[in-house]
Amino acid sequence: MTTVIDGKQVAASVIDAVKTASQALKDQAGVKTGLAVVIVGNDPASHAYVSSKSKMAKECGFTSVQHTLPEETTQEDLAALVQTLNKDETLHGILVQLPLPKHFNSEAIIQSILPEKDVDGLHVVNAGKLATGDLDGGLVSCTPAGAMVFVKRTHGEDLSGLNAVVIGRSNLFGKPMAQLLLAANATVTIAHSRTKDLAAVCRNADILVAAVGRPEMVKADWVKPGATVIDVGINRIAAPEKGEGKSRLVGDVAFDECAKVAAVITPVPGGVGPMTIAMLMANTVIAAYRKAGKTAPKF
Ligand code: GUN
Repeated sequence: MTTVIDGKQVAASVIDAVKTASQALKDQAGVKTGLAVVIVGNDPASHAYVSSKSKMAKECGFTSVQHTLPEETTQEDLAALVQTLNKDETLHGILVQLPLPKHFNSEAIIQSILPEKDVDGLHVVNAGKLATGDLDGGLVSCTPAGAMVFVKRTHGEDLSGLNAVVIGRSNLFGKPMAQLLLAANATVTIAHSRTKDLAAVCRNADILVAAVGRPEMVKADWVKPGATVIDVGINRIAAPEKGEGKSRLVGDVAFDECAKVAAVITPVPGGVGPMTIAMLMANTVIAAYRKAGKTAPKF
């Protein structure tokens, strides 16, 4: 029988642990965890994401601050806001929602966030700590951290002897995901658009992680029988069967056919998606523990 991972349920268990940790920090050190979320412009999808992040922060017992800035905000104004948030002792995490409007130099903004408050794990200091295997010193990007929770709940902490293939080499996901798998002793291949015979490479994977942004690209005959398949794609495609002009969400994996071959698989929606916000909350409470000089919980 194939196990279909319930991302909402796993995310809820992480959120429960975050709530317990934030309450304990309040009780033991008198510190209330704080998260600032910044959004610039009018993109409706980004506004929806940011609202759920701010709302979840409140549910976790955090101070939750949201800065909603107009499209015409300048680089200097946003940089000044980041500096103010960097200095604010009541805030332990800062997230600037991406993408920023086109006139911004996003990289400069992201790199100006203090690494210890970079709960998105995008600062080069955090990327570097992950690359050197210092998992307890830095903050790990939320989506790979969430995907890794599934991998560890399936295979345990030690992936010795297992082949893992990550399709996609982005800084936001593919590279950090590969580093996390490597840190857990997997034998890791990063595949991408220039990889020769991608299907054959994937068929070698005990753990196959797809993050390419191409709807249902991974087919059943790419999957090793009994593999764990983690789908990080979110693609909106036309769904004429639901009516004219309707659409639906699919991942990078052709779910129905791959579910027949895999032992464990994540759905889209309801797989990795809900984990991203959960791991953002986890990173924020971790940052608060460290600032208070306490050993941070693990999630
Ligand atoms: N936009 C889409 N996903 C993310 C994310 O994980 N972090 C930020 N900052 N922006 C995003």
